[in-house]
Amino acid sequence: EINEQPQVLRHLAATTHEQVEQLAALISAADNVFVTGCGTANNAGLEAQYFFSRIAKRQITAVMASEMAVVEPALGPKSVVIALSQSGETIDVLDAVRLSRGRGARIVALTNSEGSSLYRTADMSILLDCGPERCVLATKTYTAKLALLLMTAHALAGDPDAGRRAVAEGALLMESKLVDGEDTGDMDRVAAGLTDASSMFILGRQAAYPLALEAALKVKEVSYIHAEGFASGELKHGPIALIEDGTPCLIFATDPSVLRETLAGAAEVKARGARTIGFSQEDHSEFDVRVPIHGAGSATCFELAVSFQLLAYHLAVRLGRDPDKPRNLAKSVTVR
Ligand code: G6P
Repeated sequence: EINEQPQVLRHLAATTHEQVEQLAALISAADNVFVTGCGTANNAGLEAQYFFSRIAKRQITAVMASEMAVVEPALGPKSVVIALSQSGETIDVLDAVRLSRGRGARIVALTNSEGSSLYRTADMSILLDCGPERCVLATKTYTAKLALLLMTAHALAGDPDAGRRAVAEGALLMESKLVDGEDTGDMDRVAAGLTDASSMFILGRQAAYPLALEAALKVKEVSYIHAEGFASGELKHGPIALIEDGTPCLIFATDPSVLRETLAGAAEVKARGARTIGFSQEDHSEFDVRVPIHGAGSATCFELAVSFQLLAYHLAVRLGRDPDKPRNLAKSVTVR
């Protein structure tokens, strides 16, 4: 499923023009827009906030489905709620949709399951069209959501072609990590140095921050190693107290507009003994190890995503965990 992602992205870029335009038009006419989901879907929503604010200069608000009540007073007939759910059956998402509908909001579903409860109940449904995702961990459905939301942000900015180009570039960037549809083994080498970790931290700033959250989720779900994603600007407000000699810190330093601040965070953790693994276009003295990133701009999210998915996969395999069926987790959580 990780290897299928370039194909999934190209398919979406080629087939969803109309739906993307329709969603952009709905957003354009709305007073306010919320995006909701659970787990990986919530992380996709958090990322979408950056797409919309940067590309379309439009603020949208991500709220995890189980906490939808916090935005209830802001919901009304001119609100749009975009519900993200692979299965379309997650009870927390269905509850959030019910609450939003009760306030008169328009519901848009992005789901991989045609005919699911979410698909049927929404005013507008867009299929992720990824084919079945059997692994409990969401991979291709995560990047499919990112692709659709990125294209929608570009459509809202009046340049839908730019969105399709960004997604096509994302597919190419993913292939740089997957030669002939198979992973190149680079992330296995990084995983080999992390199997002894009891805890790791993943740092990102701005659009790289929700990616850090998703990377941490992937690592903890499947390797059972404690992993936390942090906004690197928050380091000094608490998390830096956790850094010990040898603590692995993954640093997503791919955005030139915040590179200086991101590297300052890397220097802070390194000075306290952290083992730094930088994901970046260029090498920097703050990194002990570097994972080369080739992309620039918003398509970089796809290259980072496939990299950390592969890292989590290899960690699980090296530690003898089942990468498809982690303990205690279900693919779709239909109970409260
Ligand atoms: C479960 C899975 C997660 C998934 C979440 C949301 O918790 O273990 O991997 O992200 O549900 O699932 P959905 O089907 O709503 O996208």
